[in-house]
Amino acid sequence: MEKNFKRTLVTAALPYANGGVHIGHLAGVYVPADIYVRYLRLKGEPVLFICGSDEHGVPVTMRARKEGCTPQDIVNRYHSLIKKSFEDFGISFDTYGRTSSDTHTRVASDFFRTLYDKGVFLEKESKQYYDTEAKIFLADRYIVGECPHCHTEGAYGDQCEHCGSALSPTELINPHSTVSGSTPVLRKTKHWYLPLDKYQSWLEEWILKGHKEWRSNVYGQCKSWLDMGLQPRAVSRDLDWGIPVPVEGAEGKVLYVWFDAPIGYISNTIDLRPNDWQTWWKDPSTRLVHFIGKDNIVFHCIVFPTMLKAEGSYILPDNVPANEFLNLEDQKISTSRNWAVWLHEYNKDFPGKQDVMRYVLTANAPETKDNNFTWKDFQARNNNELVAVYGNFVNRALQLTKKYEEGKVPAVNIFTDFDLATIAEFTDVKNRLEQLINTFHFRDAQKEAMELARIGNKYLAESEPWKVIKTDPERVKTILNLALQLVANLSIAFEPFLPFSSKRLRKMLNLNECVWADLGRTDILKEGHQLSEPSLLFEKIEDDVVEAQVKKLEDAKKTNELENFEPDPISNTINFDDFSKLDIRVGLIENCEKVPKKDKLLKFDINDGMGGRTIVSGIAQHYSPEELIGKEVCFIANLAPRKFGNIESQGMILSALNADGQLSVATIDRKVKPGCKVQ
Ligand code: MF3
Ligand code: ZN
Repeated sequence: MEKNFKRTLVTAALPYANGGVHIGHLAGVYVPADIYVRYLRLKGEPVLFICGSDEHGVPVTMRARKEGCTPQDIVNRYHSLIKKSFEDFGISFDTYGRTSSDTHTRVASDFFRTLYDKGVFLEKESKQYYDTEAKIFLADRYIVGECPHCHTEGAYGDQCEHCGSALSPTELINPHSTVSGSTPVLRKTKHWYLPLDKYQSWLEEWILKGHKEWRSNVYGQCKSWLDMGLQPRAVSRDLDWGIPVPVEGAEGKVLYVWFDAPIGYISNTIDLRPNDWQTWWKDPSTRLVHFIGKDNIVFHCIVFPTMLKAEGSYILPDNVPANEFLNLEDQKISTSRNWAVWLHEYNKDFPGKQDVMRYVLTANAPETKDNNFTWKDFQARNNNELVAVYGNFVNRALQLTKKYEEGKVPAVNIFTDFDLATIAEFTDVKNRLEQLINTFHFRDAQKEAMELARIGNKYLAESEPWKVIKTDPERVKTILNLALQLVANLSIAFEPFLPFSSKRLRKMLNLNECVWADLGRTDILKEGHQLSEPSLLFEKIEDDVVEAQVKKLEDAKKTNELENFEPDPISNTINFDDFSKLDIRVGLIENCEKVPKKDKLLKFDINDGMGGRTIVSGIAQHYSPEELIGKEVCFIANLAPRKFGNIESQGMILSALNADGQLSVATIDRKVKPGCKVQ
C-alpha cells in the first residue's frame, strides 16, 4: 500500500431498500468492491468491507402509502431480499447492516447533534409546498404541473422531462400533488443547512490539488461542482419517516436521507467492531475507499467529506472509484419501466452460475464510460472465454494427469527452452495484476488473469503431451507438472473475480489454501500430490436460454407498461371548423400485402366507393396481411398523398396505439357502404 497505510476500510454504497438489486448495481459498485476486498484479503492485508441497506427517504414512504403498509414493512421486505442477493453472488461484506437499526439512529443523531453544538449549521426558514389533504410537505418530485417554458402538462417540480429545463416547484403553472391530486399550498418551514460554501476552498485544496489521482470522471465531476460554486444544502426534511432531528423545536422533522445514509458506513462498522471501530475510522493510517455509482459522486466527494471534516475526528476518503452506468440491451436500465435483470431472478434462472455473471459484468465494467450488457454477449463470453479458454485448459490438464499419472502431480524432469519461455510469460502476471487492481482497473486485471489460461492452452497445444506420451513419457511428466502449476496459478488469480469457480478448482486440485504470494510460482503443487476427481468448471449456454431471457425482458416491460398506463394529456382545444377539415371515410380492405424490403409497412387496396385507392401503413409488425383483408376500417381521405419508396399512399388508416406499443385498426361495428363519412 502506498502512503504507509496499515489497513483498508472499503465501503460500498448502501442500496435503497425500496426495490431489489439488479446487474447495473452489481457492475457499478458491488462486484468491483468485492474484487478489491478479496484481493486485499488474499494478500493478507487488514481490510473491512462495509455495506447495508439505505432505508430512509421519501420513495419508501410513497411505496408504503401505495401498498397500504408501513415504511418499516417495505424496508424489512427489501432488506432481506437485497442481503440474500448479495450473499448469493458472493459479495463478501464483513457486515451488511441497515439504517433503521438502533445503533444507526443513535450514531446519526449524535453526529447531527455534534455539528449542531459546534454551530456548524445554518438555520433558515423558507416556503414549501404542502399537501393539505395528505397532510405532508411535498418533495419536488411529487409536484407536477404545466412547464413554464414549453407549457407541457405533467412537468415535475424539479424538472420538465419534455423540454429538459430544470425547475423549482414554485415555477410550475397550476401545480398539483401527485399524492392526493389536490392543489398544494405554500407553507413556511424551518430547516438546517450544511454550509458547503464555507468549505469550498478547503475542498478545492483537498480534491483538486490533493487528489489528482482520482478517476477522471470523479475528479471532473468534483471540479465542475466546485467551479459552479457550492451552496448551503438542507440536511433536514419535513417527513415522518427517518431519524428525528435531535434538537428542540424540530417536531415532525427528520434528517435528510443523504445526511444519515453515509453515516451508516460508520454505524455498521460500530456494530461489527464495537471495540476497535475508531481505529478504522479515526486513525490516519487507515485507508478509506468508497465504491459508488456516478450518481453518488457529489455526496461522497463533497457532502460527506464536509460532514466528516466539520465533525473533526474522522479520516477522509483516500479514493472514490465511481463507475459510470451499465445499459441493458442498448437501453438505460430502469426499475420503474422494469427494464432490468434482477439478481434474485438471475439466480433462479441460472443456479450456480453467479461467476458467469460476475465475469461478464467485469469484462464490460463501465469504468470509464457507460457500457452495455446484452444476453448475446453474455452467452459469447461464457462459451468463447470461460468454457473455451479457461475451462478447456483446466479440464485438459486435469484429465491428462488423471489418464497418464493417476491424478498425481508428476515430477519435473528438465525444463526445455520452451518451458522456460512459458514460465517467463506468466511469472510477471502477479505484478501486472497488482498494478491494475491497486489502481482500480478491474476490467484489464481480469483480462490479465484470463491471459494465464491462454498461455496454458498454447503451452499444451504446442507441447502435445498426447503425442509425446508415445515416445517420451518422461517429457510428459514435466509438461503436466508445469500445466498443473498454471492451473493452480489460475485458481489464485481468479479468486477475486470468480470466487465460486476458484473454490471448486481448488477442490479439484485438493488445495486448501489460496495465497496471493504463490502467484507466479511453479512449485505450488508438490510432486506426488494427489488431485481430486476433475469435473467441468463451466458449461456451454445454448441459444434458446439467452433468447428466453431477452423475451422475458420484453414481456416484463410490456406488462409494466400496461399496468402503469396513463393516457397522454388532451391536446389543445380545437373548434368545429378545425374538425370539419378532416375527411374521414370507411374503406373496405380488398387486398393487403407486405412491402418488399420494408419490414414495417403494409400496402392496402382500399375500396373507397369511388374507384379505389392505395394506402401504405406502418403496421406490419402488428398484423399479418390476411388478418386485415375484408375488414372495414376508418381512414383519412383528404390527407395529401405521401410517397413510401415508389408507392404513393393516398390517405391514412386510423388505429389505436396501446400502452405496450401495439396498434389496432379502427373498424366499424356494422356493415356500411364503403366511402361513407365518419363524423
Ligand atoms: N442509496 C443510495 C443510492 O442507491 C446510496 C447511498 S450511499 C450512502 O443511490 F453513502 F449514502 F450510504
Ligand atoms: Zn418544459
